[in-house]
Amino acid sequence: MDMLKARSVLVTGSNRGIGLELVRQLSEQNEHPEWIFATCRDPEGSRAQDLKDLAAKHQEVKIIPLEVTDPSSIQAAAARVTEHLQGAGLNLLINNAGIVRSSTLESEMPEKMSEVYKNNVIGPMMVSQAFLPLLRRASQESPQKGMSCSKAAIVNMSSGAGSITDLLGWDFGQVINYRCSKTALNMLTRCQSLGYAGDEILCIALNPGWVKTDMGSMMAPMTVEANVQAILNTFGHLSEKENGVFLNWKGMILPW
Ligand SMILES: NC(=O)c1ccc[n+]([C@@H]2O[C@H](COP(=O)([O-])OP(=O)(O)OC[C@H]3O[C@@H](n4cnc5c(N)ncnc54)[C@H](OP(=O)(O)O)[C@@H]3O)[C@@H](O)[C@H]2O)c1
Repeated sequence: MDMLKARSVLVTGSNRGIGLELVRQLSEQNEHPEWIFATCRDPEGSRAQDLKDLAAKHQEVKIIPLEVTDPSSIQAAAARVTEHLQGAGLNLLINNAGIVRSSTLESEMPEKMSEVYKNNVIGPMMVSQAFLPLLRRASQESPQKGMSCSKAAIVNMSSGAGSITDLLGWDFGQVINYRCSKTALNMLTRCQSLGYAGDEILCIALNPGWVKTDMGSMMAPMTVEANVQAILNTFGHLSEKENGVFLNWKGMILPW
């Protein structure tokens, strides 16, 4: 079975939920990455305690401050990661950080829409731009042919709620801001997959499914542990055949 063998991985929003579990499971692998850049917006805050505990046990976990809506924070994070990598590239960028604001068609507000767009669309776009030189370097220095998450990849954490075909969870919550933002993130992913194909950087949109986290709530059917195990397994199998597609956590192709 193919395994993810990235030397370096960066996860946004890694102080809780799916992001924290990604960092935990990556760091607990026998052949773990040499660098796991666990980014979060407030490393000194109480919400980063679990991540700090994890980093204290695993020296490959480097906590880097990164607020995805703030260009100067993104630039500072890219500079710190570049320093850590000492000339090596970044193999896998996971744009995981995301927010949702409850709303219906009637109650949706321009302020909520733009706040959620800033976090869920503009953030991943800016973060990808900032880390592109490191992703390109990883691709160039890799002896592997074709595309893979072990070589150079951008994973944008999307949602079935953003599928125009499926509109998952409509009866559970209309959340117009969130749905529109994830649909836009899917389009960003398609654009990235075309724009970065020449660099052999794999770009995918991933729906993690409904997971027990602060966002998913305890009503969700999947534990974060089982979910992330499946996601990491999927990462190990992806190739250029999946460039620019929308996948679920098990690697099945979803309708846009
Ligand atoms: N859970 C689900 O059922 C589900 C379903 C479909 C898709 N997803 C997607 O999966 C991703 C992770 O979801 P989750 O369930 O783990 O969510 P979560 O438990 O709410 O965690 C969200 C993470 O994103 C961070 N974040 C939010 N805004 C940020 C910003 N501006 N800058 C940096 N970090 C920021 C949060 O940091 P703070 O602690 O600082 O707020 C937190 O670490 C999201 O993109 C979400 O849309 C989740």
